[in-house]
Amino acid sequence: MKNTSAAINVLGDISPAQFLKEYWQKKPLLIRAAFPDLKPVLSAKKLFAMAKRDDVESRLICAFDQHWDMSNGPFSALPDTSKDEWTLLVQGVNLHDKAADSLLRRFNFIPNARLDDLMISYATNGGGVGAHFDSYDVFLLQAHGRRRWRIGAQKDLSLIEGMPLKILRRFVPEQEFELEPGDMLYLPPHYAHEGVAIGECMTYSIGFRAPSFQELGEAFLNFMVDTIELAGRFSDPDLKLTKHPAELSASMLSKVQDQLEQIKFTHSDMTIFLGEYLTEPKASVFFDSPKKPFAPMRFKSEACKKGLVLSLKTQMLYKGGHIFINGESFVVSAADGIPLKKLADERAILPETLRACSDDVFEAFCIWYEDGWLELCDNN
Ligand code: SIN
Ligand code: CO
Repeated sequence: MKNTSAAINVLGDISPAQFLKEYWQKKPLLIRAAFPDLKPVLSAKKLFAMAKRDDVESRLICAFDQHWDMSNGPFSALPDTSKDEWTLLVQGVNLHDKAADSLLRRFNFIPNARLDDLMISYATNGGGVGAHFDSYDVFLLQAHGRRRWRIGAQKDLSLIEGMPLKILRRFVPEQEFELEPGDMLYLPPHYAHEGVAIGECMTYSIGFRAPSFQELGEAFLNFMVDTIELAGRFSDPDLKLTKHPAELSASMLSKVQDQLEQIKFTHSDMTIFLGEYLTEPKASVFFDSPKKPFAPMRFKSEACKKGLVLSLKTQMLYKGGHIFINGESFVVSAADGIPLKKLADERAILPETLRACSDDVFEAFCIWYEDGWLELCDNN
C-alpha cells in the first residue's frame, strides 16, 4: 500500500510553515519547478472523455474579441484542437482519477476540511477565462505547455455586466509570469488574475473551500431542525378582552419569544454539524458499490491481508470522539478512534492495523465497503 501523505514539499525552497505564515491568504507566490518532473495525470484525450460524462462537472469557454461564451457539459463534441481561443474546464478530476487524487493530497499541509478539488483546464492557443478573481485560494500548476499569467492586487473588483462568466471591468495587472510545466503560482482569494495559453496547454487548479457564513448559517438551521425538542404548547389562561381582534398581542409575542429563546446549541451540536456538513458529498457524487461484494467474514479476511483504502469520492474527518464520513457521524471509543483517525488522515489502513481492529470497527468498514465508500487495496 502506498503512503498517501505529502512526503515531498511542493513549495520549492519555502517550508509549509513559512508558506502559511507569509503567503497563505495574504500574498501571491510563484514557485518555479515546484513539481520538477511533473507527469500530467491525464492526457487531453482522457480529459475530453471525462467531459462527456454526466457525473463530471465541465464547462467550455470560447473567447472572441473580449467576449466570452460559456456552456456547461456534458459535451459529446468539443471544438477542433486546431481552433484557437477555447478552454475546457473539468472540475473534481480527483474524484475519478487516482493520480489526480494523489497530486491533490500533496497539498495536505492545508487541512482536508479546506481542500476542495483538482480542476483541470485544457486550452488552445490564446485560450483563457478572462481577467477575474476567485473567492478562494488557488494553486495554479502548469502541467503541460505554457501559460502567461498577469496578476494584480486591485481593490476594484467590479465585473462587466451581462457576461456568462465573471470578467473584471477594469483589470490592472502589476506582475506578469510565463509558467512552464512544473511551475506553480499561488493566489490568495480576491487577487485579480488572467491566464492566457501560449500554444496548447493544460493547467491544474488546486482549489480550496471556504463556505460563506450565510451558507453555514442556513445549513446549521436545517441541521437544528432535526435536533431541537421543545416540550409544551402555547396557552393563554390569562387572555384579556380586546377591541382589536386582528392585532397580535404583546403577551403572545413575549410568551413565544421566551420559549424559542430556550433553543440552545452546544459545542457538540456545532462539532457534529460542521463535520457532517464538510463531509457531505457534492450533489453530483455517486458511489460505486462492488459488483459482487464479499460476505462480511470473507471481507474481513481479505482486508486483513490486503489493507483498505478510502474511495476517491469519500470525505472523512474527525474531532475528538466524533468520526465523520460522507455526511454521517459516529461517536467512538478512544480505542476504536485510533484506527479510524488513521484511516481519515492517511486515507488507507494497513493489514497489521486492521488485524487489531474491534468487531464494531469491522462492522462499520463492511458497510462502507458495501456502499462503495471504502475499497480493498489492490496493489499489495
Ligand atoms: C484556467 O485554468 O484556465 C483558469 C484557472 C483560474 O484562473 O482560476
Ligand atoms: Co481564477
